[in-house]
Amino acid sequence: MTESICRVAGQGAYLPERVLTNAEISTFVDTSDEWIRARTGISERRIADESQTTSDLGYQAAKAALADAGLDANDIDLIVVATTTADLVFPSTAALIQDRLGLRQGAAFDVQAVCSGFIYALAVADGLLKGGVFNRALVIGAETMSRILDWEDRSTCVLFGDGAGAWVLERSQEGNSGLLGYDLRCEGRYTPLLKTTGGVSATKTSGFLTMEGPAVFKHAVKKISNSMERLLEREAIDIADIDWFVPHQANQRILEGVADKLKISRDKVVSTVARHGNTSAASVPLAFHQAVADGRIQRGHLCLLEALGGGLTWGSALVRF
Ligand code: COA
Repeated sequence: MTESICRVAGQGAYLPERVLTNAEISTFVDTSDEWIRARTGISERRIADESQTTSDLGYQAAKAALADAGLDANDIDLIVVATTTADLVFPSTAALIQDRLGLRQGAAFDVQAVCSGFIYALAVADGLLKGGVFNRALVIGAETMSRILDWEDRSTCVLFGDGAGAWVLERSQEGNSGLLGYDLRCEGRYTPLLKTTGGVSATKTSGFLTMEGPAVFKHAVKKISNSMERLLEREAIDIADIDWFVPHQANQRILEGVADKLKISRDKVVSTVARHGNTSAASVPLAFHQAVADGRIQRGHLCLLEALGGGLTWGSALVRF
């Protein structure tokens, strides 16, 4: 029997309408557009309306991905949502999106790996599809990070934004396009560097995001580069053969630092951090969508994805689109 591969049948994204600029943030915390742009590359980010939840954003992205794939919700039998900002403690955001899509079949659950969530979720869905348990999956990264920010803390509130991205994966017996491999890591001992101050079991609240920025920065460049090198070696792929590098969008300096370390030419780097900020699990599919929409990423292109987030968790994935 030919080995199966999971191809990306479609992709889509959704951004809330409200744009929050650096200039506007500087009216309520002691910061400036110059500082934020120079230290992070961020100019603006989107913020969900009070009436919108993570599942609303994820649902819109899912619909866009289904339309792109030319499929109906009933063609899907697995939904995996990567999120840190679930609507409710339970049921999962995936279950809420499944209901909104009118689906009554298959399975749906959330994956919690913070900013690395989309890479983790791809790997989980890929395994279940290849194992023959399901046929087609929606993998969604969706976040309302604005809900867990301390809007008086200038060191964190300037960094994050809201949004969602989604991919439709489908098991295929033909061709060599699709998800090729992963490298996934976690070292929980770094929890103090990036976490929330609360949680339902610990404090009965969600708490606020806190981060030791410079320490996370140092881990990010090193760990992400190592992960990508391991993955490329395992898959026997030369870095020169990568068409597009689609990194997690945390900081322009991090993604350029990683690209430079691996000698990836800057014109192969997809960067949306200026317009989106860090949208956590949504950032990779949002950036991917942008580059497909503007014609850079095309069918057949080899793409290297990566992310690092709370845990610390980190990882990378290779996909031939
Ligand atoms: N506006 C103005 N000044 C600010 C500021 C802001 N929004 N935030 C912090 N500062 C100040 C600090 O108070 C500090 O002042 P001090 O020197 O008087 O103490 C100074 O700027 C430098 O702060 P520092 O934290 O050292 O800056 P930095 O160059 O490391 O940049 C980050 C901060 C957060 C942008 C950067 O560390 C970073 O991007 N970290 C990693 C983020 C990341 O990868 N996250 C991934 C998680 S998903």
